[in-house]
Order: sequence, then C-alpha cells, then structure tokens
Amino acid sequence: TDGVLVDRYGRVARDLRVSLTDKCNLRCTYCMPAEGLPWLAGPELLTDAEIVRLVRLAVERLGVTEVRFTGGEPLIRAGLVDIVASVAAVEPRPRISLTTNGIGLDRLAPALRTAGLDRVNVSLDTLDPARFTQLTRRPRLDAVLAGLAGAAAAGLNPVKINSVLMRGVNEDEAPALLRFAVDHGYQLRIIEQMPLDAQHGWDRSTMVTAEEILAALRTQFDLSPDPTERGAAPAETWLVDGGPARVGVIASVTRPFCGDCDRTRLTADGQVRACLFATEESDLRAALRGGADDEELARRWRTAMWGKRAGHGIDDPTFLQPARPMSAIGG
Ligand code: GTP
Ligand code: 5AD
Ligand code: SF4
Repeated sequence: TDGVLVDRYGRVARDLRVSLTDKCNLRCTYCMPAEGLPWLAGPELLTDAEIVRLVRLAVERLGVTEVRFTGGEPLIRAGLVDIVASVAAVEPRPRISLTTNGIGLDRLAPALRTAGLDRVNVSLDTLDPARFTQLTRRPRLDAVLAGLAGAAAAGLNPVKINSVLMRGVNEDEAPALLRFAVDHGYQLRIIEQMPLDAQHGWDRSTMVTAEEILAALRTQFDLSPDPTERGAAPAETWLVDGGPARVGVIASVTRPFCGDCDRTRLTADGQVRACLFATEESDLRAALRGGADDEELARRWRTAMWGKRAGHGIDDPTFLQPARPMSAIGG
C-alpha cells in the first residue's frame, strides 16, 4: 500500500471526483451570477485522453476505487460517454458515478449505462415550476424530472436527489421533496449550503441547518436510525417510516465529516485539489503536457494529498473561501 494517496492525518483517498467542465446550462442563484462566469478556455481543459490517462493512473497506481464525474454540468461535455467507457475498462474496474443537474439525462442515460456508469446523483431543489425557474434562472423543471425518470428506467441505481435548502426560497419544501423521492424510488439527500458560491453571498446565520431540516421532515415522516455503515459518505441517513426508503442529510457545516474524508479532486483544467476548500492546487496538466511519466505524475499527486488540511475550517475566524467557485471545483 505504499502507493496510496494518504495524508499526514492518515486519511486515504479512494474516491476521485473529476470535473469535466466548469460550464453549466443552469444559473442556480446560490452557485453563479445570471451572466455566468469567465469560463476556462478550450486549450486549458484536459482533453478526453488526458482525463482518461490521469484517472487510469489514479486507479492503477494510487488505489482509487470510486470515480465520480462532475461539472459545472458534466452532461454538456461531448466526450462524456466515451470517457466513461474508457474508465470502465480500467483494471481493477472502479465504480463510476455522475453528479448532474439532470438536463438531457433522459436521452443520455441508456448510453451512459451501457458505457459503464453505475449510478447518478441529480440536483433538484424544488418541485414548483415557478420556483425552479426563479432559482435556476432557466425554465427546465420538466427536463430535470424527465432526466430522473430516464436514469431510473436505464437501470442506474440508486438514483439520488441532491437538494440545497435556502431560507426564504425553498426552505419549506423538505417534506414535499421527500414525498416525491419516496414515491418515485429516488433517494433524497438534503444539503446544508456551503460558502462556495461565486458571488460570496453565503451567510452562516441564514443557512438552513441539518437540525431544522430534520425537524421539518419529522412533521410528516417517522425517521429512525439507519443501521447501514456510513463509512466516508457525506450523508448521514435515516430510514423513512421504518424503511426501506431512506433520506440523507449532508451537514458539512454543522456536523463536519472531514475526519473521515476519502476524496481527491481533479479540476477540468487538470489541477489536483486535496479538499473542496483547499487554497492550494497541484498542476498535473503542466506536468503531463511537459512530458512527465506516470511515476512522476503519481509522485506529484501523492505530494498534493499529503498536504491536505485536517478540516474545511469554515468556523475559523480566518476562514477564506477558495478562489475557485463550486462550479469550477466540481462539488
Ligand atoms: P455519494 O457517493 O452518492 O454519497 O455522493 P456525494 O454526496 O459524495 O456527491 P455529490 O456530488 O452528490 O455531492 C453532494 C453534496 O455533497 C454536494 O453539496 C457536495 O458539494 C457535497 N460534498 C461532496 N464531497 C464533499 C466533501 O468532500 N466535503 C464536503 N464538505 N462536501 C462534499
Ligand atoms: N453548498 C452545498 N452544495 C452545493 N451545491 C452547489 N453549490 C453548493 C453549495 N454552496 C450542490 C449542487 C449539487 C452538488 C454537486 O452540490 O446542488 O447537487
Ligand atoms: Fe449548474 Fe450545479 Fe451550479 Fe446549478 S449548482 S448552476 S446546476 S453547476
């Protein structure tokens, strides 16, 4: 095990999150401004072949067993299906998942499943069409709902829904989202908002907390402890009305799970980040394009992870948001 991605606190990164693009076809108000962001230029993006090479290296030499593709919105990357197929051919085959806003997933889910995608997490914060349009600045609720249905129909399992609750916007929707998820066989996770928005508008005092989320759910559902092992999962889960349906809460802020973190991240422009909140990155793209061999790339990746901080530090008085927003890190 001398090759794995271990940090000075003994955490081992087995879960690689790869951002395939910083662009998105929605404009969620908690993520980016209406006009979008200064996107990465084409030549800055890793090519499909470069992504596959780095993922293979991570699996073959660094002990990564789970690969998740994210964005921005990963479904808008033209090479996605081929990238998934190439990664599914790596030995030992990693588990492969996708985090998406769901638009276009109805059309793409069968090809992704065939290519080797195992499961999918779809972001959906409201079931109300007007609210959806207000929140994402695009009238696409129906497309997301079709994407969810298409994912399940294609055999992607489980299909999870990620919901971020915001005060005065959709904070009253937790029970309705859970009812919808249970009725359709999707697994809902409700997320505490983190300070990762491009506009730096996050405010701890207005954040909807896990405690409030659970209290709201308990007005309409019985939640009991989930006996399954949590492991390094960010979501704490409960059985809904005795099960088998489950609901998760991702309480990054009020109940941090950094001590069990098993993640390493690769941005669309080829930078390794040890943490969502890392302030430093390691430039694998420059090394790769400079002709570095796999041994050298692996060495750089290990060095980057060794420097991972103990926690996100959101509660420290000196906390600074990372320069990259969520959409360019990959969630
Ligand atoms: P599963 O493997 O299905 O549990 O996926 P996931 O929850 O790890 O990933 P997903 O992309 O669905 O992210 C859901 C929420 O968890 C998002 O708000 C992410 O930003 C957040 N999240 C993912 N990884 C981390 C992490 O390492 N730290 C923190 N604090 N939040 C994370
Ligand atoms: N805090 C928490 N979750 C966020 N997401 C986007 N921005 C934030 C934030 N500031 C969610 C999206 C998506 C997932 C990848 O991260 O809704 O489901
Ligand atoms: Fe796009 Fe996700 Fe950001 Fe919404 S939160 S704008 S879906 S990247």
